[in-house]
Amino acid sequence: MKIGNQYYQSIWIDETDPSIIKVIDQQKLPFFFEIKDLRSVDDVYSAITDMTVRGAPLIGATGAFGIYLATLEITPQTIIREHLSNAARYLISSRPTAVNLSWAINYVLEKLKSEKSSASLAKTAMAAAVQICEMEKDNCRQIGKHGLKLIETISRKKRGKPVNILTHCNAGWLACIDYGTVTAPIYLAHEKGIPVHVWVDETRPRNQGAKLTAYELGQNGIPYTLIPDNSGGYLMQQKQVDIVIVGSDRTTRTGDVANKTGTYLKALAAFDNKIPFYCALPSSSIDFSISDGVKEIIIEERDPDEVKFVTGLAEGKIQSVRICPEDTVAANYGFDVTPARFVTGLITEKGICKATEKDIKEMFSYKFN
Ligand code: MRU
Repeated sequence: MKIGNQYYQSIWIDETDPSIIKVIDQQKLPFFFEIKDLRSVDDVYSAITDMTVRGAPLIGATGAFGIYLATLEITPQTIIREHLSNAARYLISSRPTAVNLSWAINYVLEKLKSEKSSASLAKTAMAAAVQICEMEKDNCRQIGKHGLKLIETISRKKRGKPVNILTHCNAGWLACIDYGTVTAPIYLAHEKGIPVHVWVDETRPRNQGAKLTAYELGQNGIPYTLIPDNSGGYLMQQKQVDIVIVGSDRTTRTGDVANKTGTYLKALAAFDNKIPFYCALPSSSIDFSISDGVKEIIIEERDPDEVKFVTGLAEGKIQSVRICPEDTVAANYGFDVTPARFVTGLITEKGICKATEKDIKEMFSYKFN
């Protein structure tokens, strides 16, 4: 996507020094646009844990580049297979919920199986990481085309009045290398001249909605309104929401969807108000090995300080302020699981399907065993 007149992906290889991976520092947005260099496996681990990079597809791509950087750390003394599997384990441990991370890392490791020299390992790992970025970009483009049909149908029914879409967190181009999953259909609708308006959940505690989704939509001229996380139910009752579209960090083979904490409550409110609730996700976010999201998906627990403090711009600097008594005990569960029965459908790169094992299997039969 463009920032001003300049095209950016949210991750890329330095043009002059291919041993450096460049990322947009999402901790600084929307206040400062800064690019960070990742030069080592440790840099990649830190960037994922501190959320310099975040969003399921981007976490996956960054992990894949982490394996590439691990190949550059090989010396004549290195026991190569041990070194790579240690790097993989370490990187996979950086964030537990988004399945894209282990998927992407294992994808690169698989490609490296028949390589022996450090030069060929590095070349193959780099190619595999770039391929993952291209696949995710293409997935978003396809999700955009499929999701557009839903928006077009609502727009026709509303005789051209703006289609009100509610989203949670950030499943935009920053999270997905380019285009975004949730945002791709919205950008396409806007390009086609279909009036759209997005209700952006602020997404406490880290406010990815307020900071990132609002920034992206604003940069692309999409009308949006920022709302507190708890307003969605009221807006649905008032018929101010036509469709909810959210992303996913891990979806089971049966259609249970893990996404940013608070998503489940939006799904319940949508269900009660008979509002379609869709999840836009690439197949790299589907964990085909599990069936029960509530029991089997590991929910990341993050630093309670993210709840106790709010971070924003004050006097030209990014600052945090405490919003509760100093000795408050806080809990910070990063994600929740929306059971498939509350999901109207999944918008994937292969098309839209129901959130059921049967329909997911029909669409992705080659991934089932
Ligand atoms: O904790 P984050 O910011 O990495 O969580 C991101 C989300 O929950 C997104 O909505 C989700 O990753 C989908 S990304 C396309």
